[in-house]
Amino acid sequence: MDRDLTTRRLSLFPITARVEGDGLTIGGCDLRDLADRFGTPLYLYDRATLDDAVDAYRQALARFYPGPAGLTYAGKAFLSLALVRWLTRQDLWLDCTGRGELAVAAAGGMEPARVLVHGVNKSAADLEAARRQAGTIVVDNLTELAALIALARQDGPPLPNLWLRIRPGQAVKTHRHIQTGQADSKFGLSTAEATEAARLCRRHGLPLTGLHFHLGSHFHDAAPVCAALETLLDLAAAWRAEWGWHLEAISPGGGWGVAYHEDDLPHPSISDFVAATAQCLAKGCRARDLPLPRLQLEPGRSIVARAGVALYRVGAVKRTPHRRWLLLDGGLADNPRPALYGARYSALPVERPQREAVGPAWLAGPYCESGDVLIENLPLPDVRPGELIAVPVGGAYHLSMSSNYNGALRPAVLWLEGGRAYLIRERERVEDLLRRERPLPETA
Ligand code: LLP
Repeated sequence: MDRDLTTRRLSLFPITARVEGDGLTIGGCDLRDLADRFGTPLYLYDRATLDDAVDAYRQALARFYPGPAGLTYAGKAFLSLALVRWLTRQDLWLDCTGRGELAVAAAGGMEPARVLVHGVNKSAADLEAARRQAGTIVVDNLTELAALIALARQDGPPLPNLWLRIRPGQAVKTHRHIQTGQADSKFGLSTAEATEAARLCRRHGLPLTGLHFHLGSHFHDAAPVCAALETLLDLAAAWRAEWGWHLEAISPGGGWGVAYHEDDLPHPSISDFVAATAQCLAKGCRARDLPLPRLQLEPGRSIVARAGVALYRVGAVKRTPHRRWLLLDGGLADNPRPALYGARYSALPVERPQREAVGPAWLAGPYCESGDVLIENLPLPDVRPGELIAVPVGGAYHLSMSSNYNGALRPAVLWLEGGRAYLIRERERVEDLLRRERPLPETA
């Protein structure tokens, strides 16, 4: 491939990615060496790239928002004990969906005050866990609020802070499966329901401290976020006028997009997104004479996506009338995003990545479905069976959405820091697949 194409593809990888000698390294670790030691498919997370994304958010918040501000990491993008420890060191908050993620947060040492609980249909067990293990519950609907009112009357610790998740009727430009703020979305309360919820909180003495929305994921234009902020500030101003309610915190969710393919470059600017959001909020507060609330952003993908890399080995190369297929040892089961959203990825061979491209390749996984194609029509060199392929931008919504389709064993995960690789999640074993199985009795 020409040097320019290799360079552009390399810039999709973690910020520590280099071509050293004739191979690709990340975080100072040689990928061939990691594949030999830990096997493939293998997922890598580069600490320096995670830190870099958080710095970008923090610097922009400091520069563009004059009020108090903070960052919540959306755990649904990728969660593990090691990541939770990193979050605690970075002083981030964590958004958990349900008691499974809450358990990981607690096991990783996350302080409950920094945990926020989301969910569109939280179970009684989720709410009970949230009451004990979270500092904030984001209420999705009036039925959930009724359950919380009942819970507040029962024995146990007081309820954490409540925020209301609002559906502001704004559609962001993204795949329809990941739009969440439009009027007909299943998520959140309408503005009328939110007012009813706020009055109920007041009547029952519940600690309603904030408002929230999340318009969707992987969008690149912040204008709908700005419009949605206006809607929430109108509510806050109306409730202040009605009973003196004070808006302590506001969260416009997450959703800022990333570059997955060289054609998506340059990387969408975190600073531009924060600037648009923060300036809108500050201006909207001034216009309504509201004190500046805490601005709590909630990104997932834009923090972890670029830090992650998926490493596969090519098992076979096949030619069909119009295609060159590279058959990898992973695909749909560890990354369902191409099949679900038509996501377009790129890749580099690990050995001599600058080799001249010989034409387009289709990179497919081993699973029994024609939709198991990770990448279509990507110019690549003459890659041979046995070679390693690295797919960048694999850190968000791959492993957290992975499956055991065809009995696939989910990949091992490494944490790269200071030139060393730490195993943070073991590769699944067949014993793990069998662990929950129970044979029928002979009599059945
Ligand atoms: N806050 C809430 C309430 C959310 O539901 C989400 C994502 C986020 C924050 C973080 O959004 P992010 O910054 O990561 O875009 N599986 C899809 C993405 C689903 C997003 C779900 N909610 C994908 O692979 O593209």
